[in-house]
Amino acid sequence: MKKVHIITFGCQMNEADSELISESFRGRGFEVTADLKDADAVVVNTCTVRQRAEDKAISQIGRLRKWKLERPERRVFIVGCAAEKLGSKKIKGQFPFVDEVVGAKSINSVDAAVERKYPVSGNRYPVTTNSLPVTGYRSPVTAFVTAMRGCSLKCSYCIVPSVRGPARYLPPEEILAEAAAKAAAGAREIILLGQTVNAYAYKTPEAALSFADLLKKTAAVPGVSRVRFMSPHPLYFDDGFFRAFREEPKIARYVHLPVQSGSDRILKAMRRGYTRAQYLEIVKKIRAAAPDAAVSTDFIVGYPGETEADFKESLSLVGESGVSFAYCFKYSQRTDDKGLAPELGEPEMEERLERLLAEVKKNSNDILNKRIGRIEEVLLETGEHGRTSANFVVRLERNTGLAAGSLIRAEITGTRKNTLRGKLIP
Ligand code: 5AD
Ligand code: SF4
Repeated sequence: MKKVHIITFGCQMNEADSELISESFRGRGFEVTADLKDADAVVVNTCTVRQRAEDKAISQIGRLRKWKLERPERRVFIVGCAAEKLGSKKIKGQFPFVDEVVGAKSINSVDAAVERKYPVSGNRYPVTTNSLPVTGYRSPVTAFVTAMRGCSLKCSYCIVPSVRGPARYLPPEEILAEAAAKAAAGAREIILLGQTVNAYAYKTPEAALSFADLLKKTAAVPGVSRVRFMSPHPLYFDDGFFRAFREEPKIARYVHLPVQSGSDRILKAMRRGYTRAQYLEIVKKIRAAAPDAAVSTDFIVGYPGETEADFKESLSLVGESGVSFAYCFKYSQRTDDKGLAPELGEPEMEERLERLLAEVKKNSNDILNKRIGRIEEVLLETGEHGRTSANFVVRLERNTGLAAGSLIRAEITGTRKNTLRGKLIP
């Protein structure tokens, strides 16, 4: 049996795309291998959100030169966001051993590229529901389901709209069928994915479906105990969402809501479309709908023009919003626009990043400590650990002996690093 090895960089959207790509190979009788040495074909699914992500993808491709030379009949597929940005000509120019390049906008053409290199005669191997990976990216009981692709916003710093194209929404039947297939294969937690997932809206002449409707319908899929979503944008919350969030307990009490900056001046320059006060208002509404909900966020430090005063507004937003966690990034220029060149040097960028990370950590510890003494519902990912609805990892004091996917109740007894400790309540 031929084998394919898939290397994925970047976000969950890329993880979900890699899963799709693996189906294309499995339909041709391939097996997915975790070991590059065993593989006949390799796919590198690339990211370009920051320069460093692109550099990583490029150096990974470079490392495949030797692998290909060892057995020239091996095939190299470069796909995803950096492939879209750089283009086939540039990639094949620099790495002549690459066989196929497919950019993120043409993810549906990956199958045709695989077909060019491995044509199937006659019928494809049936890819049955049971052979679909339940992903395993995060846990054996968690599955990603793409609800939308691309982004129609125009944040000044972001390359995603240009490499992934404008927002397109998948038909609800497809989304729900995938959720049902994955639940039947063992998934208990579905994560609906999209660059601005809560912009989801689907209209046909007969019916209209909102993001809130999609959440509720996904929650109703047999076998599903929890529905998460990533990532929403502050601009697209509506009353329907808050109603669904309040009323449907299967919607996870957790919202990852990227803010990027706490300064109104910088938010405006970034073209985020909201102010600090408006962001805080949404966080307040999330907590009003579900008092125990956790909110996490993303920050960019060192955006062109960010003064010390602007940066301090980001620092103070951490405590004021009460975010449980934040991914913090140094600004990376993604266009040739001279007006968007970084103004801070590397040491100053690094210094701001460190200060922000320290603030986030302090805040996270406070929030974790506040959970001590509570009784939490935990979805087990192994016999020994699981996750609360608010996305906190709980390590149990003893192996429960229960299967992954079980919903248990645990008393929170302490914290350890970024996780909670808990005791099973029989
Ligand atoms: N520089 C730094 N960080 C960026 N992000 C997106 N574009 C850039 C950039 N040019 C961050 C944002 C986003 C996350 C996925 O990556 O914080 O929310
Ligand atoms: Fe990277 Fe953005 Fe593409 Fe995800 S969508 S892989 S974060 S560039």
